[in-house]
Amino acid sequence: MRIDIISVLPELLQSPMQHSIMKRAQEKGFLEVHIHNLRNWAVNEYGQVDDYQYGGGAGMVMMCEPLAKAIEQLSSERKPVRPGHPGGYDEVIYLTPDGEMLNQKIANNLSLKGNIIMICGHYKGIDERIRQHFVTKEISIGDYVLSGGELAAAVLVDCIGRLIPGVLNDETSALFDSFQDNLLAPPVYTRPEDFRGWKVPDALLSGNHRLIEEWRNEQSLKRTKERRPGLLENQ
Ligand code: ADE
Repeated sequence: MRIDIISVLPELLQSPMQHSIMKRAQEKGFLEVHIHNLRNWAVNEYGQVDDYQYGGGAGMVMMCEPLAKAIEQLSSERKPVRPGHPGGYDEVIYLTPDGEMLNQKIANNLSLKGNIIMICGHYKGIDERIRQHFVTKEISIGDYVLSGGELAAAVLVDCIGRLIPGVLNDETSALFDSFQDNLLAPPVYTRPEDFRGWKVPDALLSGNHRLIEEWRNEQSLKRTKERRPGLLENQ
């Protein structure tokens, strides 16, 4: 899978892609992440990519032209990922607080795509016409406002990237993550068995796989009922 990200602050995105599972996914060839500076498509030699908003009011708006040119150029460079694929991007995603709330199901679906491009907004956001004519999916990572879309894009790349088939091994398998099956993950423990008198539950020490699985299922359900009862209604 290939992910392109358009940003006015590309430095902000570099580090999250260079560590841990994202690093491994790229080294193993399962994921390619390319970060592009929107100023490469600026409207003048001063690197301008934003302007005052029509109707007045504080805050700048990211202009149509640089974004349209960037998306069009990068799209034209994306060849079909398999026979029958139309080429270009499978999704043009805009990270925005008024988008669809990110959840595991959306991440699962996106992890099966070939090429995705993400647009990070800044200031007051991007000109509405880009949203209408280029963007195919708008995603929010929560009901709060960030200074820009970069951190949201990093979250999205991470949660998609780890789901790409082959990226995680059996040990780190995403099948048992919280939210797969709409359940939170059960508690986990490691050595020692007794830390300051705080004991590891007997079931986990029993060596009986059926008992361990039962205990984990019970704990998952208990945790979900207590913390996120709404998830159980979506079963
Ligand atoms: N840009 C600013 N805030 C955001 C949010 N909560 N989610 C996605 N993109 C954003």
